Amino acid sequence: MKDYIFVLGRDPEISLEEIKRYLESRRYDFKIKEYNKKIALVSVDHLKNKIIGDLGGTLKIAEVFNIKDLDINQDEIKYGFSVYGSKGITKIKNELKNYFKKQKTKVIIKNPKMGETFSPSEFKGNFIEFVVYNNYLAKTILVSNPKDYGNRDDKKPYFDRLKVTSIRLTKILINLSGVKENETLLDPFCGTGTILQEALLMGINGYGIEKDHRTFEGCKTNLNWFKKAFNVKNNFEVFHGDAREATKFIDKVDVVVTEPFLGPFFKQYPSETQAMKIKNELTRLYFDTLRELKGMTKKRIIFISPIIPFKKGHAKPDMESILSKLRIKVEKKFLYQVQGNIIDREIYVLTP
Ligand SMILES: C[S@@+](CC[C@H](N)C(=O)[O-])C[C@H]1O[C@@H](n2cnc3c(N)ncnc32)[C@H](O)[C@@H]1O
Repeated sequence: MKDYIFVLGRDPEISLEEIKRYLESRRYDFKIKEYNKKIALVSVDHLKNKIIGDLGGTLKIAEVFNIKDLDINQDEIKYGFSVYGSKGITKIKNELKNYFKKQKTKVIIKNPKMGETFSPSEFKGNFIEFVVYNNYLAKTILVSNPKDYGNRDDKKPYFDRLKVTSIRLTKILINLSGVKENETLLDPFCGTGTILQEALLMGINGYGIEKDHRTFEGCKTNLNWFKKAFNVKNNFEVFHGDAREATKFIDKVDVVVTEPFLGPFFKQYPSETQAMKIKNELTRLYFDTLRELKGMTKKRIIFISPIIPFKKGHAKPDMESILSKLRIKVEKKFLYQVQGNIIDREIYVLTP
């Protein structure tokens, strides 16, 4: 097994769980050796390059090496360091300097624009990044490409910013479910189809249900476009209907992954009465939906529930009571916050 440093984006706890589930479901032999808020040091066999496009919460992956085994034969190189734990940094820097001196390589050293680490958007041309984590030295081999997400979102034929889950979150949710290639995933509140689109891209077959007719048509248009534009082989089917009646349309699926209806969109805090009313409506909707999903899901349900703030407190759908009544087990629960969003979210990893 080789050691790799996975550089985690924001929400490191969720990103670490995502890595574990992803590697587990694809039957990688692996061990998380160390982790903190910035990185995970992972021992793993035969890592495939596609992992960086599949993971939503990992920014970069660097392969740990011993300086004795370094083999760079170039006349000139441009390199820089990202430091995630600096116990051995001076020694490591000097060793590298000596290595390139011995090789007679002309060296240009680049510094990160901000802080001590390079962000994915700073990787251009032949730049080589060395990652330093305490006494570990690693060379970055895979970098996430934030532009890819923009390409997928901006070119969609049908877009409705109120009915779309972000691509980054979507990938995380899909991976938390442990679904793998050629299995089936249902999004019972599929909106404009982001979760289904990313599932297709990862080689997963998708089912969707959407109640609003216009959004349902938009979702089909998007997914047909997506299949062609990204040369996707897997299949999807979308139904116009109600998530609470999912078994009318679909028999069984491997996993359910959804960001359901979270209540109306607010520009400012609702009143306590409004928040309580939404909480009660969502509690009923989520109970009826999860009751329906329980019998038809083979592996896991990933479900988001909102935290609705008002001036002096907050209201949340009664997930604990719903799940205990339905005897659905909570494997994990994460708080997910986005700066500037009024509503925070809780991500539930459930086994039906
Ligand atoms: C947050 S959006 C979903 C975003 C979607 N998961 C994605 O991947 O982009 C919620 C969607 O649920 C739909 N919806 C609301 N109530 C529903 C119900 N009872 N059954 C099915 N869809 C419903 C809304 O019209 C909306 O499009």
